[in-house]
Amino acid sequence: MTQSRVLHRAGGAPPVATGGDGIYLHPADGARIIDASGGAAVSCLGHGNRRIAEAIGRQAATMAYAHTGTFSSQPAEDLAHIVLDNEPGGLTHAYFCSSGSEGTEAALKLARQYFVEIGQPQRTHFIARRQSYHGNTLGALGAGGNMMRRALYEPILAPAFSLVSPCFAYRFKRNDESDQQYLDRLADELEARFQMLGPNTVIGFLAEPVVGATTGCVAALPGYFKRVREICDRHGALLILDEVMCGMGRTGTMHAWQQEGITPDLQIVAKGLGGGYQPIGGVLINRRIVDAISAGSGGFMHGHTYQAHPVACAAALEVQRIIRDDNLLDNVRAMGTRLENGLIERFGNHRHVGDIRGRGLFWALEFVTDRATKQVFDPKLKINERVKREALARGLAIYPMGGTIDGKLGDHIIVAPPYIATAADIDTIVDRLGAAVDTALAS
Ligand SMILES: Cc1ncc(COP(=O)(O)O)c(C=O)c1O
Repeated sequence: MTQSRVLHRAGGAPPVATGGDGIYLHPADGARIIDASGGAAVSCLGHGNRRIAEAIGRQAATMAYAHTGTFSSQPAEDLAHIVLDNEPGGLTHAYFCSSGSEGTEAALKLARQYFVEIGQPQRTHFIARRQSYHGNTLGALGAGGNMMRRALYEPILAPAFSLVSPCFAYRFKRNDESDQQYLDRLADELEARFQMLGPNTVIGFLAEPVVGATTGCVAALPGYFKRVREICDRHGALLILDEVMCGMGRTGTMHAWQQEGITPDLQIVAKGLGGGYQPIGGVLINRRIVDAISAGSGGFMHGHTYQAHPVACAAALEVQRIIRDDNLLDNVRAMGTRLENGLIERFGNHRHVGDIRGRGLFWALEFVTDRATKQVFDPKLKINERVKREALARGLAIYPMGGTIDGKLGDHIIVAPPYIATAADIDTIVDRLGAAVDTALAS
């Protein structure tokens, strides 16, 4: 092969992937790898879907691009309608962009502009959580609490973001605490942060309903988001949920917040929106925010050249139609239960698997040296990478991450199979993962 001139994210030159069909990805050497995490929980319908490919081709041939300052496009309009069908949780409008990070940037700006429009320009702070991730552009990186990704850029991140503790019971609920006491402690901390920043100065609270790559599929304890919603309401702040990874069906409901008994004011979506067929993200917006802008300055003071790109919207529209037409959320729930049971059966007594957690088709294993003490492996061992390598050697692609606890310590891997996975696929994924974990952690 000629020398790669692409600047790759991990340095060196990774193998080239040349094709895919269904749950399989094909590297150039002809192997067939089960894509058991869709990259980073992206490829929700698997690879090589003809319907989506044809929708992309049709749109590209019909009208590839028209500037959104002058025109809308039919795919953008139709995509907004299908995503906002029945106005879930009072979300009535969508802003489409090209990635999750752009979605976060847009949500932060929309939230700020909303308060300026309604005569509260003194609101300048956001509260978010440690051990979260909201994107890699500077604004989104500043909002996130992924210490590993922040570290290098810390001096150039904006001071508008204030981080509080995550709701991560396996790691941070004390042994002498009940669930209720832990929730009280977190609610008290959040309330205190609002007070510390000053009355009516907070724009919004930003969180992932199920934390994705940073900690590995961590859902909050029941009742946590209700407490958060109450605190935001009391302070007149917005609740902004980042469902880039956990949304659009991944956890078994179209929106992860539907399992929390609350609704957000703004919701960021991306990966499962387009399933990787095109780069696309978006913000789903409560009507009152849109109304405030309409009644005020009249337009969102933000934009990108490729926002609501017709070809990307056409791809996402077809993805969402397939999810709807084929009742794939039923399959996510059924296969999610099978995956949960399979993981518990295979790893429930594994000496190095401290926690098995997730929802729907979004599951993680956290690795420990000792289950009783939850002691982590030495980060130098890069246990998560080892598991990834062993899995790949067995024809299984998974998503590994270190720094589960604080950006440095802890190891986990994520499995996030496509919504089209069959029972046999799930069983094979668990089998191969079992063998990979056993080999990677044999000592
Ligand atoms: C929860 C969450 N928010 C935001 C992002 C950023 O999305 P993107 O990489 O598409 O910019 C990610 C990406 O992994 C994510 O998982």
